[in-house]
Amino acid sequence: MSSIDYSEKIPNNVDLANDRTLQRALEHWQPRFLHWWREMGPNDFAAVDVYLRTAVGVDAQGWAHYGTVKMPDYRWGIFLADPIADRTIGFGDSFGQPVWQQVPGEFRSQFRRLIVTQGDTEPASVEQQHRLGHTCPSLYDMRNLFQINVEEGRHLWAMVYILHAHFGRDGREEAEELLARHSGDVDKPRILGTFNEPIVDWLSFFCFCYFTDRDGKFQLKSLAESSFDPLARTCRFMLTEEAHHMFVGETGLGRIVRRTLEVMKEIGSDDPEAIRRQGAVDLPLLQRYLNFWFSSSLDLFGSEVSSNAASTFANGIKGRPDETTQYQDHVCADSTFEIEVPDGKGGVVKDTSPMRNAMNEVLRLSYVKDCEIGLKRWNMQIKRAGYNFELKLPSNRFRRAIGAWASIPTDLEGRPISREEYDSLMPGWLPSASDKDYVKSLMQRVVEPGKMAAWIAPPDRGINNLPVEYAYVRLN
Ligand SMILES: [Fe+2]
Ligand SMILES: [Fe+2]
Repeated sequence: MSSIDYSEKIPNNVDLANDRTLQRALEHWQPRFLHWWREMGPNDFAAVDVYLRTAVGVDAQGWAHYGTVKMPDYRWGIFLADPIADRTIGFGDSFGQPVWQQVPGEFRSQFRRLIVTQGDTEPASVEQQHRLGHTCPSLYDMRNLFQINVEEGRHLWAMVYILHAHFGRDGREEAEELLARHSGDVDKPRILGTFNEPIVDWLSFFCFCYFTDRDGKFQLKSLAESSFDPLARTCRFMLTEEAHHMFVGETGLGRIVRRTLEVMKEIGSDDPEAIRRQGAVDLPLLQRYLNFWFSSSLDLFGSEVSSNAASTFANGIKGRPDETTQYQDHVCADSTFEIEVPDGKGGVVKDTSPMRNAMNEVLRLSYVKDCEIGLKRWNMQIKRAGYNFELKLPSNRFRRAIGAWASIPTDLEGRPISREEYDSLMPGWLPSASDKDYVKSLMQRVVEPGKMAAWIAPPDRGINNLPVEYAYVRLN
């Protein structure tokens, strides 16, 4: 295992000290990153002590160290998973050949675009979440938010390292731009839609962690298959950190469901108004938030049929998650994939696409499957509590802005409907202004150790074997 050198200005396991030019370039970027963090990060909490984990190694066992840190002092660094000896290309036209340690010139711009797009999402989410500390439902949750924030900052480092190390001057310019675009900025927004959506309350935050960080997981998993080995190794290690973000989303939403069920039991009613009078989140309200974040995140995978997806697969740039274990055919030169597209007359028709062109859809469908796991668990909770209410993911066709179903009005089941019907039903499908006002009214900060806001149940356990009551953040 390559250990991480913490005596360096930039902690790393890539032997930065022996590449002075690269080291200087990254040390030049470092103060800009810190400036961005101070401006756009959780800046009202710069002085508080937070119980955070920091990567100290890259193997699965004991890779992290836990301790109290002020966020601006977090040691953001460059950590690649260890190389796999004699690794060969796992998919596409060059299947079976040795992986690349440098970017082949002909694929340079495709790689650059993918890396920049991934890199852009990392600081975007920090920007989206930067005021949530003020309304945390507990110190435990506040700590998890900050943990995610510093790790997204580190993921930015991960992508900037690849840009600096392998893309010369273009890469350095892109690294500057990653700090110049901002979430929701009218002039210079972040690249992808979902990362410009405001996250102003914790219900949205948990949905974001559940749905949008999970998109990140799938993108990273497919980049971890890349023939460009440094990128694959970077992404493999990012996934280790990313798992916690989805954990926060899944347990956060699960705790909301649990609390709501407790309230329903207490008052003996499932009437949303009655539940709201008790300060909890009624399940139909939760469903509308799920509808919003799920449908927004689906667009992140791109069009169902895409020549770009075909060429990144053919060229060995971006594979499928778990390419080796999940698939038999790694070349996909002759296979096809069936997709359902609008027929232009208000109906649906089956269309056959070459498999390579359908890779975005393949990725999206495995993502949807993964999203269903949490819903099954929450539905089990609801059923066990004796209610027949079921949380559901809307259809992949619902409220899409990209791909075959972009701007085609459908209901939650994906049935094409008229524009008038769509517009009139939408308030029941997405969070309404009054839903948002209600959720906003719940966002009162709770910072007494071990205490939880009334709309969320406590977690089953604390962080790193500490009790839930531990003071995970010391506000001084
Ligand atoms: Fe990330
Ligand atoms: Fe994340």
